[in-house]
Amino acid sequence: MHSATPVKQLIYRSCLSEDTSEADIYRMIRHAQKYNIQHELSGFLISDSKNFVQLIEGAVDQVNRLFDKIKIDQRHHHVEVEYYDIGLSRIMPFLGMGLCLLNCKVDFQEDFYFTRLQAREFSSLFDGKVGNYFRGYLA
Ligand SMILES: Cc1cc2nc3c(=O)[nH]c(=O)nc-3n(C[C@H](O)[C@H](O)[C@H](O)COP(=O)(O)O)c2cc1C
Repeated sequence: MHSATPVKQLIYRSCLSEDTSEADIYRMIRHAQKYNIQHELSGFLISDSKNFVQLIEGAVDQVNRLFDKIKIDQRHHHVEVEYYDIGLSRIMPFLGMGLCLLNCKVDFQEDFYFTRLQAREFSSLFDGKVGNYFRGYLA
């Protein structure tokens, strides 16, 4: 997918707050799905119950605006940018949000939910650094 406006890809990692549950993440994702689609953003969130890693992609202003909110969200802390790049093409094949909970005990039957195996397959779409980060977390 190509876009005339510059597109930013941002990957950050963070630590879950102690009282953030899978149910909290699930609720947050449902909200994020709508917001991201409305603002032509793509997200993919991986969690191993202790850490989050998220890829966000979209118009530079939209990514920055969303990340300003995410940084101060109490459901996590120690938010650190791992990687970002600005270019003209999108790498994510969908708008909205993908979710992979690596130690999940709940069977989320949702379109946006990826098992570890599905997320690994999905990450093979990404070349270069984005793919490397993802595969590293999904090993
Ligand atoms: C790890 C993590 C990832 C998040 N990702 C998104 C996202 O992709 N899209 C989104 O709209 N909100 C996301 N949120 C929620 C935002 O931080 C924020 O709660 C939401 O944008 C609502 O903000 P508002 O109440 O100011 O409108 C995420 C929160 C966390 C903790």
